[in-house]
Amino acid sequence: MGVHRSWAIVFTLEFLFQAQLLNSKNRLCNQKDWHALFGFMSNLKTYFEAWISSIDCCHWEGIICGPLSSARVIKLELSRKRLSEKLSDYLVGLDKLKTLNLSHDFLKGSLPLALFYMPNLEQLDLSYNDFSRPIPGSIDLPSIQILEISSNSLIGYLPSHICVNSTRIRFLSLVMNYFSSNILLRLGTCSSLEQLLLGRNDLRGGITEDIFQLQNLNLLEL
Ligand SMILES: *[C@@H]1O[C@H](CO)[C@@H](O)[C@H](O)[C@H]1NC(C)=O
Repeated sequence: MGVHRSWAIVFTLEFLFQAQLLNSKNRLCNQKDWHALFGFMSNLKTYFEAWISSIDCCHWEGIICGPLSSARVIKLELSRKRLSEKLSDYLVGLDKLKTLNLSHDFLKGSLPLALFYMPNLEQLDLSYNDFSRPIPGSIDLPSIQILEISSNSLIGYLPSHICVNSTRIRFLSLVMNYFSSNILLRLGTCSSLEQLLLGRNDLRGGITEDIFQLQNLNLLEL
């Protein structure tokens, strides 16, 4: 779909959305979330007929909203949908998002940096895409429990101090990328970590000895 056509759709829907806002007190979809989702969609090669057939984004395929009182988007799961091409910065406008699963989707390019600073994100699965470029060295995802970005083409440094901010992380997989940093991984504060998978990269450096104190760790792949 051409960029112009997608923007025409966005503007038309914007108009419909505003009209509906005036008419309905019972709408679900939050306007900020709606903008974020449309920005996200208009950067993709694929778009969802199902999305634009309903104004209420809480009923779109792959979207789950929270309780009625706030009705913010808390889950976006569009795995194996052949989304293809770029992951838009707009997505980070979903600031109540807890789960983002876009695995197996033919996405490429860089990951929006702001994705690594989302306060409510608990599960991030972007595995089996073709994202390249580095990820930020210091990640601040205070709620994250599952971070799965294996099988991409990411390069550069590992997030060596990840558990300083992300103390609740249980599962971290960066397997099958091109990380090549020569640094010391400090995992002593990863007290919730159960599975750590870093294999099939080009890692040098090392891991500090405090890894042996991680009582919940039950799987380690280097
Ligand atoms: C993401 O979705 C796929 C289904 O396509 C599933 O297999 C995978 O476990 C999900 N990731 C997470 C972290 O739940």
